[in-house]
Amino acid sequence: MDKAAVKLAPSILAADFARLGEQVAEAERAGADRIHVDVMDGHFVPNISMGPVIVQSLRPVTRLPLETHLMISDPDLYLDEFAEAGSDSLLVHWEGNNNLHRTVQRVKALGKRAGVVINPATPASVLEEILQDVDQVLVMTVNPGFGHQHFIHTTLPKIRRVRQMIEQIKPGCDLEVDGGIDATTAPLTVDAGANVLVAGSAIFGDNEGIAAAMKRLRASVD
Ligand code: DX5
Ligand code: ZN
Repeated sequence: MDKAAVKLAPSILAADFARLGEQVAEAERAGADRIHVDVMDGHFVPNISMGPVIVQSLRPVTRLPLETHLMISDPDLYLDEFAEAGSDSLLVHWEGNNNLHRTVQRVKALGKRAGVVINPATPASVLEEILQDVDQVLVMTVNPGFGHQHFIHTTLPKIRRVRQMIEQIKPGCDLEVDGGIDATTAPLTVDAGANVLVAGSAIFGDNEGIAAAMKRLRASVD
C-alpha cells in the first residue's frame, strides 16, 4: 500500500453538533479527504443519529466529498433523498439486503459513488460478485451503531483478503475501515491493505484539537 495515498475520513458522529459546521471546516483545513456521515435508524442498529437534513446543512460548508454510511433498514427508500441533499457517495450494508445489486445500481444511476459495507462477522467472500460494480468497500472494524468502541483485531486478516480480491477483481476500488481507528490501530489496517481511514473519536474527541489529532493519525501511517 502506498502510504502517501492513505485518505482520512473524519466521522462527524463524534463531533460537537452545536458547532458542526465549524468542526467540519476545521477538519477540511487540517487536510481531511472526505467527511463521513453515519446514518442510523434505531432498527438496523440500536442507535439513532442523523438524516438527510445534516447532509443538506453541511453541503455549503465544505468542498470535501460527503460520504454517507447508511446503517438503516431498506436503504433504497432513502437513496434519492440523500443524493438530493448532497451526498457524494452512498455506502450500503451487505447485511439484510436481499437485492444488493439493485441498490448499488440505483446509487450509480443517481450519479453517486457506490460502496458496500460488511460487518465484523461477515466474510470477505460475500463481496465476490458485487465488487466489480462498486467504487468502495468498507470493512467495519467494530460492530456498527456507536462511536468510541474498541477495534476488533480479528478483522485484520479479512482486510488483507479484501485487498487481494480488489487487486484481482477491481483495482482502484477504495478499501476503507471504520471503527476504533486511532494512531495505534491505523497502521495495522494500512499494513493489511486499507487506503481510507474513518475516525470519529480519535479526531473530534482529541483534547489537543482536530488538527493535532489528524496530524498524529497521518504520522502513524507514514
Ligand atoms: C460506527 C460508525 C463509525 C463511528 C466510528 O457505527 O460507523 O463511523 O463514527 O467512531 P470511532 O472512530 O469513534 O470508533
Ligand atoms: Zn461509519
